Amino acid sequence: MRTGNSVTLTDAYSNGILSKEIPTELGRLQALERMLDPVAHEVLGDLRPEPGWRCLDMGAGAGSIAYWLAERCPSGRVVAADIDPRHLDPGRAAPLEVATVDLTREDFSRNSFDLVHTRALLAHLPQRDELVRKAVTWLRPGGHLVVGEFYILPLDDAHPALRTGVRTLAQLMGEQGTDVYWARRVPALLKAAGLTGIQVRLTPLTIGIGEPVDEFWRRSFEQYLPILRRRGTVPGTTLDELTKMLDDSSAADLCWFFVTASGRAPEAPARTS
Ligand SMILES: C[S@@+](CC[C@H](N)C(=O)[O-])C[C@H]1O[C@@H](n2cnc3c(N)ncnc32)[C@H](O)[C@@H]1O
Repeated sequence: MRTGNSVTLTDAYSNGILSKEIPTELGRLQALERMLDPVAHEVLGDLRPEPGWRCLDMGAGAGSIAYWLAERCPSGRVVAADIDPRHLDPGRAAPLEVATVDLTREDFSRNSFDLVHTRALLAHLPQRDELVRKAVTWLRPGGHLVVGEFYILPLDDAHPALRTGVRTLAQLMGEQGTDVYWARRVPALLKAAGLTGIQVRLTPLTIGIGEPVDEFWRRSFEQYLPILRRRGTVPGTTLDELTKMLDDSSAADLCWFFVTASGRAPEAPARTS
């Protein structure tokens, strides 16, 4: 790994609404894991990770995917890379390496991983397209890239509280560098970066019909709504309604998809004698 001298937090992760300085952020990340790990396990399991694989989890967060890979690749290497790795436990499994890395500034060697996974990270980073292209260079021939991101469905016909609340949230995140609509472009980016066998899986995240999705949104709203309240750009009554939606099945709404796209680096051409 080539590393720079310093690590600089992007806005959303230093003082923004995703900062690990916020005491509720760890619980929110763990709720995200409970919501999305089943689909990640299916997608990654279908790739049949081998014991000796070298894997990278970009923006490993609270670590569940890196730990899962470390169990399956005991004689390989699993790099859990995060700009702020305070919630990652390097002692969890032998092949695990926790790396404090700003992925927007630092690089890995070409052909150094059999599998690169990233979830709920790239949409937050303005360098997202470039990072996909960089991640492809880190794959060995035949190696796999898996990218997972949220996609907000059109809000025009959503419950009015959700429409206003989520639009404002998307705007706030946009000001911190997030593109909540980026997931839509990921398959095209994987293709343009030269990957083959591209697959896309959509997971509906319906708000208001139960756990584990509601727990994630409840925790997210608890963290975000005070920030929206302080900004005063959304009426307080709308914010109250947004919280109540989680307990009101008549307001259930298929508001988000989670997009998991994967592709494979081309195999090296066969040698001719
Ligand atoms: C929303 S969390 C997702 C965590 C994990 N991938 C998951 O899905 O459970 C995004 C993670 O990316 C990390 N991150 C943000 N910017 C980063 C950067 N420039 N380089 C490396 N990691 C970064 C954050 O610290 C955070 O842990």
